[in-house]
Amino acid sequence: MTDSIKFWAVVPAAGVGKRMNADRPKQYLELAGKTVIEHTLLRLLKADVFAAVVVAISEEDPYWPELEVSTHEKIITAAGGKERADSVLSALKSMRDLASDNDWVLVHDAARPCITATDIQHLIASLVNDEVGGILALSSHDTLKNVQGDSIVGTLDRRHIWRALTPQMFRYDLLKNALEAAEGNPAITDEASALELQGLQPKIVEGRPDNIKITRPEDLELAQFYMEHQHD
Ligand code: CTP
Ligand code: MG
Repeated sequence: MTDSIKFWAVVPAAGVGKRMNADRPKQYLELAGKTVIEHTLLRLLKADVFAAVVVAISEEDPYWPELEVSTHEKIITAAGGKERADSVLSALKSMRDLASDNDWVLVHDAARPCITATDIQHLIASLVNDEVGGILALSSHDTLKNVQGDSIVGTLDRRHIWRALTPQMFRYDLLKNALEAAEGNPAITDEASALELQGLQPKIVEGRPDNIKITRPEDLELAQFYMEHQHD
Protein backbone atom coordinates (compact mmCIF):
# COMPACT_ATOMS: atom_id res chain seq x y z
CA MET A 1 0.00 0.00 0.00
CA THR A 2 2.63 2.55 -1.05
CA ASP A 3 -0.21 4.98 -1.82
CA SER A 4 -0.71 5.64 1.86
CA ILE A 5 2.97 6.23 2.68
CA LYS A 6 3.43 9.72 4.10
CA PHE A 7 6.45 12.02 4.35
CA TRP A 8 7.23 13.84 7.59
CA ALA A 9 9.88 16.47 8.29
CA VAL A 10 11.64 16.50 11.67
CA VAL A 11 13.63 19.64 12.50
CA PRO A 12 16.00 19.58 15.49
CA ALA A 13 16.06 23.19 16.74
CA ALA A 14 16.97 22.85 20.41
CA GLY A 15 20.67 23.65 20.22
CA VAL A 16 22.31 26.64 21.90
CA GLY A 17 24.72 27.48 19.07
CA LYS A 18 27.88 27.62 21.16
CA ARG A 19 30.24 28.01 18.18
CA MET A 20 28.21 30.94 16.89
CA ASN A 21 28.95 32.85 20.06
CA ALA A 22 25.89 35.14 19.71
CA ASP A 23 23.40 36.57 22.25
CA ARG A 24 20.80 33.93 21.33
CA PRO A 25 20.69 30.47 19.72
CA LYS A 26 21.77 30.77 16.09
CA GLN A 27 18.39 29.59 14.71
CA TYR A 28 16.94 32.90 15.96
CA LEU A 29 19.53 35.17 14.36
CA GLU A 30 18.30 37.29 11.49
CA LEU A 31 19.20 36.51 7.93
CA ALA A 32 17.71 38.36 4.93
CA GLY A 33 14.74 39.74 6.88
CA LYS A 34 13.72 36.58 8.78
CA THR A 35 15.19 34.36 11.46
CA VAL A 36 17.23 31.37 10.31
CA ILE A 37 14.59 28.89 11.52
CA GLU A 38 11.79 30.72 9.69
CA HIS A 39 13.68 30.37 6.41
CA THR A 40 14.23 26.67 7.10
CA LEU A 41 10.62 25.92 8.03
CA LEU A 42 9.06 28.02 5.28
CA ARG A 43 11.21 26.26 2.71
CA LEU A 44 10.19 22.83 4.03
CA LEU A 45 6.52 23.85 4.00
CA LYS A 46 6.86 25.25 0.48
CA ALA A 47 8.22 21.94 -0.80
CA ASP A 48 4.62 20.75 -0.26
CA VAL A 49 5.45 17.09 0.40
CA PHE A 50 5.16 16.81 4.18
CA ALA A 51 2.11 15.72 6.17
CA ALA A 52 3.56 17.86 8.99
CA VAL A 53 6.84 19.38 10.15
CA VAL A 54 7.78 18.36 13.71
CA VAL A 55 10.13 20.86 15.37
CA ALA A 56 12.13 20.01 18.52
CA ILE A 57 12.35 23.11 20.70
CA SER A 58 14.13 23.59 24.03
CA GLU A 59 11.78 24.01 26.99
CA GLU A 60 13.57 27.22 28.01
CA ASP A 61 13.21 28.80 24.58
CA PRO A 62 11.48 32.22 24.76
CA TYR A 63 11.97 33.01 21.04
CA TRP A 64 9.94 30.24 19.41
CA PRO A 65 6.42 31.32 20.55
CA GLU A 66 7.13 34.80 19.17
CA LEU A 67 7.39 33.52 15.60
CA GLU A 68 4.31 33.48 13.40
CA VAL A 69 5.35 30.15 11.90
CA SER A 70 5.04 28.47 15.34
CA THR A 71 1.23 28.43 14.94
CA HIS A 72 1.21 27.22 11.32
CA GLU A 73 -1.29 24.35 10.92
CA LYS A 74 1.38 21.97 9.62
CA ILE A 75 3.91 22.67 12.38
CA ILE A 76 4.00 20.43 15.47
CA THR A 77 6.29 21.19 18.41
CA ALA A 78 8.13 18.56 20.48
CA ALA A 79 10.49 18.93 23.44
CA GLY A 80 14.19 19.20 22.68
CA GLY A 81 16.81 16.96 24.29
CA LYS A 82 20.36 17.14 25.60
CA GLU A 83 22.05 16.26 22.29
CA ARG A 84 20.84 16.58 18.71
CA ALA A 85 20.02 12.84 18.60
CA ASP A 86 17.90 13.21 21.76
CA SER A 87 15.95 16.05 20.15
CA VAL A 88 15.29 13.99 17.03
CA LEU A 89 14.21 10.96 19.09
CA SER A 90 11.89 13.14 21.17
CA ALA A 91 10.26 14.46 17.99
CA LEU A 92 9.85 10.92 16.63
CA LYS A 93 8.27 9.73 19.87
CA SER A 94 5.82 12.64 19.81
CA MET A 95 4.62 11.48 16.36
CA ARG A 96 3.88 7.91 17.51
CA ASP A 97 0.13 8.19 16.93
CA LEU A 98 0.45 10.07 13.65
CA ALA A 99 3.14 8.25 11.68
CA SER A 100 3.05 4.69 10.35
CA ASP A 101 6.10 2.44 10.59
CA ASN A 102 6.82 2.64 6.87
CA ASP A 103 6.33 6.37 6.50
CA TRP A 104 9.41 8.35 5.49
CA VAL A 105 10.94 10.90 7.88
CA LEU A 106 13.27 13.60 6.55
CA VAL A 107 15.37 15.02 9.39
CA HIS A 108 16.68 18.49 8.58
CA ASP A 109 18.77 20.83 10.76
CA ALA A 110 17.07 24.11 11.70
CA ALA A 111 20.51 25.63 11.07
CA ARG A 112 20.41 24.84 7.30
CA PRO A 113 18.17 27.63 5.98
CA CYS A 114 19.32 27.44 2.33
CA ILE A 115 17.68 24.06 1.66
CA THR A 116 15.97 24.03 -1.74
CA ALA A 117 12.93 22.20 -3.07
CA THR A 118 15.17 20.66 -5.76
CA ASP A 119 17.39 19.05 -3.10
CA ILE A 120 14.36 17.70 -1.21
CA GLN A 121 12.77 16.34 -4.39
CA HIS A 122 16.07 14.84 -5.56
CA LEU A 123 16.56 13.06 -2.21
CA ILE A 124 13.01 11.69 -2.20
CA ALA A 125 13.10 10.58 -5.85
CA SER A 126 16.43 8.81 -5.31
CA LEU A 127 15.40 6.90 -2.19
CA VAL A 128 11.67 6.34 -2.28
CA ASN A 129 12.07 2.73 -3.46
CA ASP A 130 15.01 2.01 -1.14
CA GLU A 131 14.66 -0.32 1.85
CA VAL A 132 16.82 1.69 4.25
CA GLY A 133 17.01 5.31 3.06
CA GLY A 134 19.93 7.71 3.00
CA ILE A 135 21.25 11.22 3.18
CA LEU A 136 22.26 14.24 1.14
CA ALA A 137 26.04 14.46 1.04
CA LEU A 138 28.85 16.30 -0.69
CA SER A 139 31.95 14.76 -2.18
CA SER A 140 35.24 16.24 -1.10
CA HIS A 141 37.13 18.41 -3.61
CA ASP A 142 40.14 19.08 -1.43
CA THR A 143 42.92 16.59 -0.76
CA LEU A 144 42.33 15.26 2.75
CA LYS A 145 45.10 14.80 5.29
CA ASN A 146 45.29 12.54 8.31
CA VAL A 147 46.94 14.66 11.01
CA GLN A 148 48.40 13.97 14.44
CA GLY A 149 49.28 17.06 16.48
CA ASP A 150 50.30 19.47 13.72
CA SER A 151 51.95 16.91 11.43
CA ILE A 152 50.53 15.09 8.43
CA VAL A 153 50.76 11.33 8.85
CA GLY A 154 48.91 10.32 5.71
CA THR A 155 46.64 11.28 2.83
CA LEU A 156 43.10 9.86 2.65
CA ASP A 157 41.56 8.51 -0.52
CA ARG A 158 38.96 11.21 -1.08
CA ARG A 159 36.88 9.00 -3.41
CA HIS A 160 35.63 7.33 -0.24
CA ILE A 161 35.03 10.47 1.83
CA TRP A 162 31.74 12.37 1.75
CA ARG A 163 30.42 15.17 3.96
CA ALA A 164 27.06 14.37 5.53
CA LEU A 165 24.36 17.03 5.09
CA THR A 166 20.65 17.02 5.85
CA PRO A 167 17.89 16.14 5.09
CA GLN A 168 18.52 12.53 6.08
CA MET A 169 15.65 10.29 5.00
CA PHE A 170 14.67 7.06 6.75
CA ARG A 171 11.62 4.94 7.53
CA TYR A 172 9.92 6.02 10.75
CA ASP A 173 10.26 2.72 12.64
CA LEU A 174 13.81 1.97 11.48
CA LEU A 175 15.02 5.42 12.50
CA LYS A 176 13.24 5.48 15.86
CA ASN A 177 14.52 2.02 16.77
CA ALA A 178 18.07 2.88 15.71
CA LEU A 179 18.10 6.09 17.75
CA GLU A 180 16.61 4.31 20.77
CA ALA A 181 19.28 1.60 20.55
CA ALA A 182 22.01 4.24 20.33
CA GLU A 183 20.72 6.52 23.11
CA GLY A 184 23.55 8.22 24.99
CA ASN A 185 26.21 7.20 22.45
CA PRO A 186 28.24 10.37 21.67
CA ALA A 187 29.31 8.95 18.29
CA ILE A 188 25.77 9.43 16.95
CA THR A 189 26.06 12.87 15.38
CA ASP A 190 23.57 12.26 12.57
CA GLU A 191 20.74 9.84 11.80
CA ALA A 192 22.80 7.74 9.37
CA SER A 193 25.35 6.88 12.07
CA ALA A 194 22.59 5.37 14.22
CA LEU A 195 21.51 3.15 11.31
CA GLU A 196 25.12 2.24 10.56
CA LEU A 197 25.41 0.95 14.15
CA GLN A 198 22.56 -1.44 13.30
CA GLY A 199 24.71 -2.85 10.49
CA LEU A 200 22.71 -1.04 7.80
CA GLN A 201 24.21 0.89 4.88
CA PRO A 202 22.33 4.12 4.14
CA LYS A 203 22.73 5.55 0.62
CA ILE A 204 24.31 8.84 -0.23
CA VAL A 205 22.63 11.25 -2.66
CA GLU A 206 24.74 14.13 -3.95
CA GLY A 207 23.39 17.40 -2.54
CA ARG A 208 23.97 21.03 -3.48
CA PRO A 209 26.89 22.93 -1.95
CA ASP A 210 24.64 25.89 -1.06
CA ASN A 211 22.90 23.78 1.63
CA ILE A 212 25.30 25.02 4.31
CA LYS A 213 24.89 24.73 8.07
CA ILE A 214 25.14 27.97 9.99
CA THR A 215 27.87 27.13 12.49
CA ARG A 216 30.20 30.12 12.88
CA PRO A 217 29.54 33.87 12.53
CA GLU A 218 30.92 34.09 8.95
CA ASP A 219 28.36 31.49 7.80
CA LEU A 220 25.50 34.02 8.07
CA GLU A 221 26.99 36.18 5.32
CA LEU A 222 27.63 33.15 3.15
CA ALA A 223 24.02 31.96 3.64
CA GLN A 224 22.78 35.43 2.67
CA PHE A 225 24.92 35.31 -0.47
CA TYR A 226 23.52 31.90 -1.47
CA MET A 227 19.94 33.01 -0.81
CA GLU A 228 20.37 36.02 -3.07
CA HIS A 229 21.61 33.74 -5.86
CA GLN A 230 19.15 30.87 -5.51
CA HIS A 231 16.33 30.64 -8.04
CA ASP A 232 14.23 27.83 -6.60
N1 CTP B 1 20.17 20.56 18.07
C1 CTP B 1 19.05 20.13 18.81
N2 CTP B 1 19.22 19.70 20.11
C2 CTP B 1 20.44 19.72 20.69
C3 CTP B 1 21.57 20.17 19.95
C4 CTP B 1 21.39 20.59 18.63
O1 CTP B 1 17.94 20.10 18.30
N3 CTP B 1 20.56 19.32 21.96
C5 CTP B 1 19.95 21.08 16.70
C6 CTP B 1 20.44 22.50 16.49
O2 CTP B 1 19.45 23.44 16.94
C7 CTP B 1 20.72 22.55 15.00
C8 CTP B 1 21.05 21.10 14.64
O3 CTP B 1 20.68 20.31 15.77
O4 CTP B 1 19.60 22.95 14.24
C9 CTP B 1 22.50 20.93 14.27
O5 CTP B 1 23.32 21.10 15.42
P1 CTP B 1 24.50 22.15 15.58
O6 CTP B 1 24.80 22.80 14.27
O7 CTP B 1 25.61 21.49 16.32
O8 CTP B 1 23.81 23.30 16.49
P2 CTP B 1 24.13 23.69 17.99
O9 CTP B 1 24.33 22.46 18.81
O10 CTP B 1 23.09 24.65 18.41
O11 CTP B 1 25.52 24.48 17.84
P3 CTP B 1 26.89 24.24 18.69
O12 CTP B 1 27.26 22.78 18.45
O13 CTP B 1 27.86 25.22 18.10
O14 CTP B 1 26.54 24.54 20.13
MG1 MG C 1 25.93 21.08 18.36
